[in-house]
Amino acid sequence: MKIDLIVGARPNYMKAAPIYRELLKYPTEFQCRLVHTGQHYDEKMSDIFFRELELPKPHIYLGVGSGRHGEQTGRIMIEYEKAILDDQPDHVLVAGDVNSTVACSLVAVKLHIKVGHIEGGLRSRDWNMPEEINRIVTDNISDYLFTSSRDADENLQAEGIAKAKIFFVGNTMIDSLYYYMPKVDQRRIHQELGVIPGNYILITLHRPSNVDQDEIFKGLFSTLETIQQRMPIVFPMHPRTLKMLQEFGMGRYLELPNLKITEPLGYHDFMKLQKDARLVLTDSGGLQEESTVLGVPCLTLRENTERPVTIWEGTNELVGSDPEKILARTMAILDGNVKKGKIPEYWDGHTAERIVAVLRNN
Ligand code: UD1
Repeated sequence: MKIDLIVGARPNYMKAAPIYRELLKYPTEFQCRLVHTGQHYDEKMSDIFFRELELPKPHIYLGVGSGRHGEQTGRIMIEYEKAILDDQPDHVLVAGDVNSTVACSLVAVKLHIKVGHIEGGLRSRDWNMPEEINRIVTDNISDYLFTSSRDADENLQAEGIAKAKIFFVGNTMIDSLYYYMPKVDQRRIHQELGVIPGNYILITLHRPSNVDQDEIFKGLFSTLETIQQRMPIVFPMHPRTLKMLQEFGMGRYLELPNLKITEPLGYHDFMKLQKDARLVLTDSGGLQEESTVLGVPCLTLRENTERPVTIWEGTNELVGSDPEKILARTMAILDGNVKKGKIPEYWDGHTAERIVAVLRNN
């Protein structure tokens, strides 16, 4: 069976790496090509993850780069179709909800190639998020929906997707979390940044809904200014966020003593920082899940989440982008008022094994 495993943007790599490793265990059954669309291309958004996750150089690199949604999605489709026309895989595996996910699924389904969607079925019900559109389209054209939580199964069935296509397998990103932990534990990023384990807040912020609108963006940064007076904040900054900070003339925030803004970090350093943080503030999907497994309190700066299991069972709470709410809840957590959680079902480090078992049995 020939498989193309697609990656394109930062959150894809840690979801794909465990599957690549697992497929290699069956060399007579699977031939796997790693396809990188080039949606993310910077050293810090791409190459460092390949090294740290021990992924080989992609077998196919499409080099599409940044662009508007239609432009980027379209370019990935054109380039991926060209790349595989003469040597088509039997299956295409895509992960998550980025533009590369939907683009490569569309190419595959139109060539009658079977599509497997890792992390299928998640829904925020927020159509303003490009990711929600990507999820719905990808799920509806996939042959295998590999889900990470039971609510995802319910979402898919409610949309009329046949039960036989849905496989509750768990979370491959959590496979990576466990697998690389020994390497993560060796990192010395705290010393490099001058922070003490358990005594800093980690924040990531890059959603268009938070960083593209001047009023919301400024509100969030003035809240961070207040919080950093109480506890240091580490802020590995996405290129999009840095661009907006400069565009809105907010460069002074780069100088605040306890707001430690860094470049995007590699996987090992970032996980080390997350593991030892007192609190995570984020608008990312992945951090909501990782912090739940690490048992670190997480405030999600969004009005909704496609990962509700992290709220029902984990340490995650939704606070939106209202400065007062963020500040109040942050201070309460720093005062010890934390929400305890448990690790969701099948987030156990063995999800890739279950996915590959499904492929072998079918
Ligand atoms: C994409 C995903 C988002 C995911 C995020 C993780 C979509 C629709 N969005 O958002 O779901 O949470 O990745 O990072 O697929 N840029 C660089 N260097 C890079 C890549 C991007 O400087 O290597 C800058 C460019 O200015 C680019 C901007 O970041 O225009 C946004 O990149 P893009 O891939 O369009 O979306 P993300 O915001 O990264």
